[in-house]
Amino acid sequence: MLDDKYVTEKKVEITIDGKTYYLPMVVGSEGEKAVDIRSLRAQTGCITLDSGYMNTGSCCSKITFLDGEKGILNYRGYRIEDLAEHCSFIEVAYLLLHGYLPTVGELNYFGQLLAKFALLHEDMVHFFDRYPPNAHPMSILSSMVGSLVSFYPEMVNNPLENIDLMASRLLSKLRTIAAFSYRKSLGHPLVYPRHDYSYCANFLNMMFESPVRPYEVNPVEVAALNKLLILHGDHEQNCSTSTVRMVGSARVNLYASISAGISALWGPLHGGANQAVIEMLEQIHLKGGDYKKYIERAKDPKDSFRLVGFGHRVYKSHDPRSRIIKRACDDVLSAMNMASDPLLAIAKELEEVALKDEYFIERNLYPNVDFYSGIIYRAIGIPMNMFTVMFALGRLPGWIAHWKEMWDDPDTRIGRPRQIYTGPCQREFVSIEERKLGDR
Ligand code: CMC
Repeated sequence: MLDDKYVTEKKVEITIDGKTYYLPMVVGSEGEKAVDIRSLRAQTGCITLDSGYMNTGSCCSKITFLDGEKGILNYRGYRIEDLAEHCSFIEVAYLLLHGYLPTVGELNYFGQLLAKFALLHEDMVHFFDRYPPNAHPMSILSSMVGSLVSFYPEMVNNPLENIDLMASRLLSKLRTIAAFSYRKSLGHPLVYPRHDYSYCANFLNMMFESPVRPYEVNPVEVAALNKLLILHGDHEQNCSTSTVRMVGSARVNLYASISAGISALWGPLHGGANQAVIEMLEQIHLKGGDYKKYIERAKDPKDSFRLVGFGHRVYKSHDPRSRIIKRACDDVLSAMNMASDPLLAIAKELEEVALKDEYFIERNLYPNVDFYSGIIYRAIGIPMNMFTVMFALGRLPGWIAHWKEMWDDPDTRIGRPRQIYTGPCQREFVSIEERKLGDR
């Protein structure tokens, strides 16, 4: 809900057909300005046209602040750099959901809930048998999450009273679903979650433990995964989060709304980019490493090729997440004796050349969160088609926090944009017998 303290004394003057109207001006807690146009159509008969919502604020939110010009990203007021350095993913998930960092007692309780909810109903486990072996894990993930409401319907009618339980259930089960979908794709036996492992260690164990080759959880991999999940935790009104809010605005339950968000994330322009980056780097490597050719292709207006992992709708300078991930990439690969990874070398060369190139400078195109994350996932042993699932795992606390905020906000209305119709004006109906090909 928009608090009166953010509405300024200033009014924005707008003149249409010689008549002047005054609209309120809103300034957020970090100084972001907006013209409040909620009364525009009622006053003037006009709507605004803003494809891709490049200039449209769809809500007020207290969760994440980002300044794309300065490269700042804060969750609930805390710098992403500090959170990535000092916190566990679960601590950050708690922060996103509740608005404050947990005490030791609160964090322990949250951990107990996650342990309690980690199992899937065994009937759901059988679902995995019915997918073809090459099914994309994102399709499995979105349909499994959508199915959760059928197995756990008891809290959906009063979600705000039960949001802690529902959030812990989702966070814990999504991790289990993700790991099970991978095991099933291999045809390997499922590894059940353990109560004595941390969130990230538990996930890695479910992915890689084997009856023939026992898996030892590697603390370097756990730390890297923890950092990556934190960095993906939230990113204000991006495509998938806006989808979760939009679907939820029709008063759709949390599980179905998150399932829709997972589908939105799948796209190669959004969360699917981390997979596309590695595919691109592998292709460059296989074709002899001539990365400059790909830079030229990305610049060619006649070529649809884009340098994946570059550019961002909001960041017009360095994406702070990408800087942290690049450093983590060096640390993890050295600790794993993989510092000479050819894909990392190509990525760094691409970045260096692109950042000096006029085309990229003029358009403010910098590496985004997806540019280096796949190199870490690959080093940990996560297969490429699971990369976007990893993004979903990280983004889940942000989606839930936004859904909760949207549900609780008296300003929320069902999401229903308008349009400017440009089709044919009203015309006379022609019966099928009288229609001619040329009459269209
Ligand atoms: N390579 C080459 N040119 C690019 C790229 C790129 N990666 N990104 C943008 N451009 C050009 C684009 O061709 C356009 O040029 P012109 O003005 O000459 O027509 C200009 O830069 C502006 O691009 P846009 O498509 O209008 O910008 P947008 O804000 O609509 O799109 C984007 C943002 C992220 C979809 C886009 O930069 C892109 O396609 N990047 C590659 C895919 C990618 O890495 N996606 C992950 C995004 S970050 C994580 C997430 O959100 O999930």
